[in-house]
Amino acid sequence: MKIMLIDKDNPIPAGYKPLLEKIENGYYMEKRAAHCLRALLAAARKDGIIIEIFSSYRTYDYQKQLFDGGIQSNLDKGLSYEEAYDKTANSTAPPGKSEHNAGLAADLKGEDWDNDNWQKFEDTKAFKWLTENAHRFGFILRYPKEKSHITKYIYEPWHYRYVGCPHAEIMTRKGLTLEEYLKLCNCI
Ligand code: DAL
Ligand code: ZN
Repeated sequence: MKIMLIDKDNPIPAGYKPLLEKIENGYYMEKRAAHCLRALLAAARKDGIIIEIFSSYRTYDYQKQLFDGGIQSNLDKGLSYEEAYDKTANSTAPPGKSEHNAGLAADLKGEDWDNDNWQKFEDTKAFKWLTENAHRFGFILRYPKEKSHITKYIYEPWHYRYVGCPHAEIMTRKGLTLEEYLKLCNCI
């Protein structure tokens, strides 16, 4: 399986349309990712851990709405346009440059989600379970702590990217971001 690198330097190829499949509760992902996320959620529930999706596939227009909304809210706080753009782009991908637009990423939360501090998710049982198990279902923590200089995004303990097995297993074991992994393996 070819792994698509989507980041600030690598937009989704023009005309790319993922074949979408429903996961649950009106959330969709690319077909294989949806299948694996359903299996992940079921396995977590079997272990007594409730994990819920709060974002998965997003249209280009919805991503644009999120991105433009982020800029506007930072402008409202008194930042210049350039500052507002940069601050927004630290945590929200510009439209066409989000893994969500390709149906390959899901944002996951647990029962004790703190809407005022998303990063606190790392202290929850759900995050611990994901850290130990997400790779078994082909998912990686895409924006880890201490790797922002490579990913160009803040630490996002909730954002999981589907890359498939065994890639997820190797990246997790070796602590590699997708950018680092693809540099090592030019033919993937
Ligand atoms: N929060 C991630 C970077 C996104 O918007 O795709
Ligand atoms: Zn996300």
